[in-house]
Amino acid sequence: MANSHPLVDRGAAVSLTGQDLHLSFGDNHVLRGVDIHVEAGTTTTVIGPSGSGKSTLLRVLNRLHEPQQGDILIDGRSVLKDDPDQLRRRIGMVFQQFNLFPHRTVAQNVELGPRKLLGLDKDEARALAIAQLESVGLAHKADARPSTLSGGQQQRVAIARALAMHPQIMFFDEATSALDPELVKGVLALMTDLSEQGMTMIVVTHEMGYARDVSDHVVFMDEGMVVETGAPEQIFTDARSDRLKTFLSQIL
Ligand SMILES: Nc1ncnc2c1ncn2[C@@H]1O[C@H](COP(=O)(O)OP(=O)(O)OP(=O)(O)O)[C@@H](O)[C@H]1O
Ligand SMILES: [Mg+2]
Repeated sequence: MANSHPLVDRGAAVSLTGQDLHLSFGDNHVLRGVDIHVEAGTTTTVIGPSGSGKSTLLRVLNRLHEPQQGDILIDGRSVLKDDPDQLRRRIGMVFQQFNLFPHRTVAQNVELGPRKLLGLDKDEARALAIAQLESVGLAHKADARPSTLSGGQQQRVAIARALAMHPQIMFFDEATSALDPELVKGVLALMTDLSEQGMTMIVVTHEMGYARDVSDHVVFMDEGMVVETGAPEQIFTDARSDRLKTFLSQIL
């Protein structure tokens, strides 16, 4: 997406590590010892069949669910004893459903977090929101209601909203899955820009083009475990495990 506004302007990038993460819901052992390491300023895509634990992994990494075993580290330091809200502020999340407030304008949606959580006053928050909307090409929609925007535009607002909190890390969970095919491109272009600008990102996606061409690292999960991980070339042209080969043959 051609624009002159940097999406990432928040100091040095950080690394994120999950070590031996376990989570059960009752007797459903959903994460069974997951290891993941995202180098500072790189993008890792997480692929795998439905129910393999991809969304749960993201929710454990930002402690929406507390892991029952294992550790989470940012730049090599455990964050499990930190205030979880503080951790969540460092991680921006974008979901399949945009979850914008329908009765607020686009700009108000972006302003809310910075006003409440970063303590910005009205004018500061408005200026930040406009700048952030400009960076996703939507400043002209600042005073519109979300419902008057296309799905792709709404998702770009959701990305602007997450970026307005100046996160150090971004998580995307199937961010393009609910979009009409013609709208996917704009959102993927924005995610590509973010990757290229050196944001540390974990992207759960079915978009194999993005996984192959944009991400630095691919993690294949099945049944709550990381079955295979590697550079995109290796995952897509030299898969080792039968499970990954089968998965790729079904989706490519
Ligand atoms: N809040 C929850 N309570 C109970 N079980 C849950 C909860 N969230 C997820 N699960 C279970 O955890 C398992 C993994 O779910 P998860 O949503 O992480 O899979 P996924 O890989 O993201 O799948 P999809 O590709 O369909 O989004 C499933 O068996 C699911 O039913
Ligand atoms: Mg999911």
